[in-house]
Amino acid sequence: MPTRLKSCKVPPMLILGIETSCDETGVALYHGERGLLAHALHSQVAMHAEYGGVVPELASRDHIRRILPLTRKILAEADCTLADLDAIAYTQGPGLAGALLVGAGVGAALGFALNIPAIGVHHLEGHLLAPLLEPDPPAFPFVALLVSGGHSQLMRVTGVGAYETLGETLDDAAGEAFDKTAKLLGLGYPGGPAISALAESGVPGRFKLPRPMLHSGDLNFSFSGLKTAVLTLAKHQPNDRQPLADIARAFQDAIVEVLAVKALAALDQTGLKRLVVAGGVGANRQLRAGLEARAAKRGYKVYYPKLEFCTDNGAMIAFAGAMRFRHDAVAGNGAFTVRPRWELVG
Ligand code: KG4
Ligand code: ZN
Repeated sequence: MPTRLKSCKVPPMLILGIETSCDETGVALYHGERGLLAHALHSQVAMHAEYGGVVPELASRDHIRRILPLTRKILAEADCTLADLDAIAYTQGPGLAGALLVGAGVGAALGFALNIPAIGVHHLEGHLLAPLLEPDPPAFPFVALLVSGGHSQLMRVTGVGAYETLGETLDDAAGEAFDKTAKLLGLGYPGGPAISALAESGVPGRFKLPRPMLHSGDLNFSFSGLKTAVLTLAKHQPNDRQPLADIARAFQDAIVEVLAVKALAALDQTGLKRLVVAGGVGANRQLRAGLEARAAKRGYKVYYPKLEFCTDNGAMIAFAGAMRFRHDAVAGNGAFTVRPRWELVG
């Protein structure tokens, strides 16, 4: 677990953020006073699409190809040089080991060559703090709904590094449920955007799927049964666009309702009034609308990163690294480790 910090003031320094935990190469330049100066992303979606999911070895190789050109591009955009950097932040985990090694290797080597600190950042902390990049950031404490391809958690966040798990998925993550369901409906990868696009033309209420653990009395989730329910439903429908859209809509309605009801319950239970939504599934329009509508009725406020910073990106890593920068931090010797499995809350 990353250590807890007392203050979250960002020092006036320039930091390069590097994200390579999965299938996106993201880099960004964040300045403690001037904010986000530049960022760039290369998505490998097209490359992995023909395999129906991420192929780890291809992901690593593509990160190697992209990372330095992208870094040069944002330095030029921000009118900076490597010599202007005060620190580097790279995603240390969790994620695909080979993919992480690329970003960590480049980050640690640059830190060594430039004689500046290289900070290993927890990927989920990056997601969690991403809404703080927005012009109207949430104040601590808040409840965070972290919904990505690998994680679904509700957390009480009282400061940078001060995280308490309130509930989590017992099986599939929300994004994973979208991806697996899309695959079995023949919608390809990545599933979240594909299902949500198709669901737009689905008729609400035409099919009704179960709401797993809606009344479990705790803040945990379970999504693995939903894909089986979808499979059973799909088997009895013609393989045409409209029935598929209606199924996609029913699936999305079920996930959105469970996430929204539990997120609101977390606010009720903790007495907190701010909800932060982070991670790739946070890009889902229907989830956003469902949370907004419920929160507004109870006087709660919902905060999101902008859409492009919901999914993996370098800006959130640069920002989390800046939050974790310590003035007494020293440059490393170029050595580094990655942590493919790494809990945010120990
Ligand atoms: O946070 P993220 O980019 O990567 C991880 O850290 O996992 O999240 C990726 C996940 C994928 O499962 C993807 O299908 C899902 O986020 N996702 C969505 C949407 N956009 C991405 N799920 C539902 N609706 C979306 N619009
Ligand atoms: Zn992520």
